[in-house]
Parts: sequence; C-alpha cells; structure tokens
Amino acid sequence: MTMLLDDPQDAAALLRAGELVAFATETVYGLGADARNGEAVAGIFEAKGRPHFNPLICHFPDAESAWAEVCPDERALALAAAFWPGPLTLVLPRRPESRVALLTGAGLDTLAVRVPAHPGALAVLRAAGTPVAAPSANRSGRVSPTTSAHVMEELSGRIAAVLEGGDCAVGVESTVLDLSAGEAVLLRPGGVPVEAIEALIGPVGRGLPIAEAAGHALRSPGMMQSHYAPSLPLRLDAAEVAPDEALLAFGPPLPGAGKVYQLSEGRDLREAASRLFSGLRALDGSGARGIAAMPIPAEGLGAAIRDRLARAAAPRD
Ligand code: TXA
Ligand code: MG
Repeated sequence: MTMLLDDPQDAAALLRAGELVAFATETVYGLGADARNGEAVAGIFEAKGRPHFNPLICHFPDAESAWAEVCPDERALALAAAFWPGPLTLVLPRRPESRVALLTGAGLDTLAVRVPAHPGALAVLRAAGTPVAAPSANRSGRVSPTTSAHVMEELSGRIAAVLEGGDCAVGVESTVLDLSAGEAVLLRPGGVPVEAIEALIGPVGRGLPIAEAAGHALRSPGMMQSHYAPSLPLRLDAAEVAPDEALLAFGPPLPGAGKVYQLSEGRDLREAASRLFSGLRALDGSGARGIAAMPIPAEGLGAAIRDRLARAAAPRD
C-alpha cells in the first residue's frame, strides 16, 4: 500500500528509514531515497524497472549542504547564486570524503547536485538531513509525472509513500550542466535556458546525456570514459575461477579464487546492486590478473546488474 502524505516530516522520517518516497519538485515529481543508503538507492532502480544504472541527481535544501559532497568552482558558485533554488543541476567532482553511495553516482567520480524550488521538497530535504537521490517518479520508459495522481498510477504498491505537492510548475526536468572537466557542457536542456547560463559563465558546449551516450558507448569513447569501468579484464557468468583471478561472488563463492568480494551471500538482488560499484573498485585494486563474475539472474534488478557488468566487460582501448 502506497500512502498519500500531507506532512513533509512524515516523508522525511520514511526516507531516513530507508524507504522510497515520491515528492513534488518545481520540475516533476521525484522518486526519493536516502542517497547514502545504497540499498535504498537500489530500490529506486527496482521500483522504476530501470534496466541499467544511470547516475542519479542528489537533492539538497541549500547550496552549503551540496558543497559538502562536491567541490564547486567559481562557475558553480555563480550559477548556484543565480539559479538555486531552481531547475538547474550541476555535475561536479565528488569529494573523497562524501558518504553518498557509489550506486547513486553509478560509480562515477562526479555527482549531480541540485537545490529544488518547491516548498514541500525543501521541507523534506531539510528534515531528512541527508542528500536525497531522486529521478523522475515514473516507470522506466514512461513520461515524467507532474501530479501525485500520475505518480500513483505509475508506482502505487511499489513505493512507501507520495507526498502531496500539487501540480509541478515547470513540468520539464532540470537543466543538467557538467562542470567537472574544464569546459562547461550541457548534458540535458531543461528548466533553466542555456542562454541564461551562458550569460553568466560564457559559452557552453553541447554534450549527450549519459543515458543516451551509453547506447553509443563504443562509438564515442569520450563519453564512455565518464562511465566507471575497471581496468582489469572482467569475465561474466564464470563457472570456475583461476587462483590469480579475483571473484565477484553472488551466493556461496566458487572455490579456489584469490580475492573474493561478496555481492550478496543470500543472493539478494537489491543488496547486490547496492554493492556492485564498491565491489568492482575493490577487486580492481586487488592485484589480480582479472575479475571473474559469478552468474546473476537476469530478472528484476539483476538485468541492471548484468547490463553494467556487460559494459564493464566490453572490449575497450
Ligand atoms: O528535474 C529533475 O532534474 C528531476 C527532479 C526530480 O529533480 N530529476 C531527474 O533526475 O530528472 P534523473 O535521475 O531522471 O536525471 C538525471 C540526469 C540524467 O540524464 C543523468 O544521466 C544525469 O542527470 N546525471 C546524473 N548524474 C550525473 C553525473 N555524475 N554525470 C553526468 N550526468 C549525470
Ligand atoms: Mg526521467
């Protein structure tokens, strides 16, 4: 049963408890989870039925709390002063001490941050006291919801609650601007016109959103670089493992591996999803010759895990 809530405090308490709660922003309704809780974030992908792990936007009640997770440069400070709260998302280098779950940023060294301009959303974020990861609150492949009734149609029974927040004023998602690699690049046009951004910080390059870039990964290596891939070769669906290989285990580990990283002893897909990027990073630094990944079923979140492993295993130069 998905509850319809009126009090932002109730929504915040559920988020802190690791539950999924949809709430209105000025752009569209977002499906929120505690961004520091990897299993809660895995639940977002599960509820949306997303076949792969795109990086999610972290939402904050003010710029100061965003700057605790990412490093702003001069341009970011100027844009935040001009457009926050509002429909602008900035992609910036993640601070090494950030406790945001790796799954939230799909394993990247950057994080997308934004301060939304909706009183209900701001009240939730203030009360939650943690960054909140929130993609649009629709099933994968469907249009973004701009009323609580839309969210109920999409996700009723799959999430804990929806906070009533009226109709979304902007109705399209935020503008996503990448400031993490020198030149500013527009990754997604949205609520703040790019001309208004250029008036403040000068010319902005045009890029492909990560979601679309993933499909062109092999043809546009520049875009692929921004996706975390281990430097060690990776084998999928391993039925046995060599002593000089590291093992990404799912369930009781295959015998004979050197270093083992357990995704989920009890073969729980949500737990495995939340540990995937940490596992790849840990094994990558293990000194092994390669990584063998045990079979993971293709259903539910397993499809997203397999998609991510297949990308990590794809040939690259
Ligand atoms: O208006 C919005 O932005 C809504 C509301 C709920 O705030 N949220 C939203 O989130 O649209 P989502 O997760 O559906 O869109 C995130 C976009 C995607 O295009 C994703 O690829 C990009 O931001 N993105 C997120 N983190 C990124 C990163 N570290 N590097 C590059 N792109 C990133
Ligand atoms: Mg969306």
